[in-house]
Amino acid sequence: MISYEKELNIIKRANRLRSRKIYDDKLIDLASNDYLGLASNKEIFKKAYKRVLKENSTSPKASILVNGYTTIHKKFEEKLCKVNKFKSGMVVGSGFLANISLIESMVRSKDILFIDEQYHASGMLATKLVQGKVIIFKHNDFNDLEEKLKKEDLSRTSRVIIAIEGVYSMGGDIAPKEFNNIALKYNTILLVDEAHSSGVIGRNLLGWFDYWDITPKKNHIKMGTLGKAYGSYGAYILASKEIITFLENRAKPIIYSTAPSLFDIALGYESLKYILKNKKVLVKKIKKNKKIVKDILDISSDSLIVPIVINDNKKVLSIQKELINKGYIVGAIRQPTVSSAIIRMIIKLDIKNKDLKKICELLKY
Ligand SMILES: Cc1ncc(COP(=O)(O)O)c(C=O)c1O
Repeated sequence: MISYEKELNIIKRANRLRSRKIYDDKLIDLASNDYLGLASNKEIFKKAYKRVLKENSTSPKASILVNGYTTIHKKFEEKLCKVNKFKSGMVVGSGFLANISLIESMVRSKDILFIDEQYHASGMLATKLVQGKVIIFKHNDFNDLEEKLKKEDLSRTSRVIIAIEGVYSMGGDIAPKEFNNIALKYNTILLVDEAHSSGVIGRNLLGWFDYWDITPKKNHIKMGTLGKAYGSYGAYILASKEIITFLENRAKPIIYSTAPSLFDIALGYESLKYILKNKKVLVKKIKKNKKIVKDILDISSDSLIVPIVINDNKKVLSIQKELINKGYIVGAIRQPTVSSAIIRMIIKLDIKNKDLKKICELLKY
């Protein structure tokens, strides 16, 4: 009655059992989402630490709507709005909470949410909580989205929301600009999860809107995370003033959860400043890493995510183990995260060219 043994055995038999492991810190890391290598930048860390020490209280202590909101949060929101050209913004505890906040609160009973089939698990979970209608469209397929939009009686709908990711976490592919054209044509809200795109794509490394040169308007929402290219932890939502005010009043993970950590936000702020200041060098290095992968593995990636399809759960695990023995760590991603097993290699900017070339050679066979 109280055992989960049967379920666990099913997972084990399919070679899908996951477990927490502490990997050797000295392994060359091509598994994490620390795209720019900022997680080991001690100068950024020290600046954030000094900033937090200036505060009387170094922890948020309460919800952002009670008295957990501080100047550190506010200044970061203002900087994000300014550089991303959004009217308003709000920091949130994590990307997972941000997706639950947005989707659960915004898709009301007469609304329709159209969501990409490969949208992150947090967004998919939130679709189970909404009162409105949810329609899933084929991955990155704007034609499928438009066909599905045409089938709905939009005159009986209050709002339509389209949810996409800027760069998809497993395939590393970018959402086409056409999604923005469709959002304009059908007067919909466009929500872009930029977990894997902000800090990685665009002329100013700001992400999807920057990459496609789209000036944010009232219907746009950008959700960005700090746990990836920004080398910290947490998230933010940028949108119109009205949408941010609505979230303050309706989004449960924002109202009923302690405000984001002051240190994590200060670290995100320092990372943002670092990225903007060093964008030319970073963009050059991103190009260089992509070229190495293209030259050796003949894989063109839109981002710093390089997926290598293996299609065999046992095999991805053995490839990962072999690479660990040689000093490298890559992701061995299996179902349900992906439909068939992949090696997920992140070509982080702190990896030396000679190491990147070596691992590509190793993966060639
Ligand atoms: C696309 C996407 N959205 C949201 C999240 C959740 O962000 P966080 O790790 O900050 O909770 C992740 C990753 O973890 C992600 O890959």
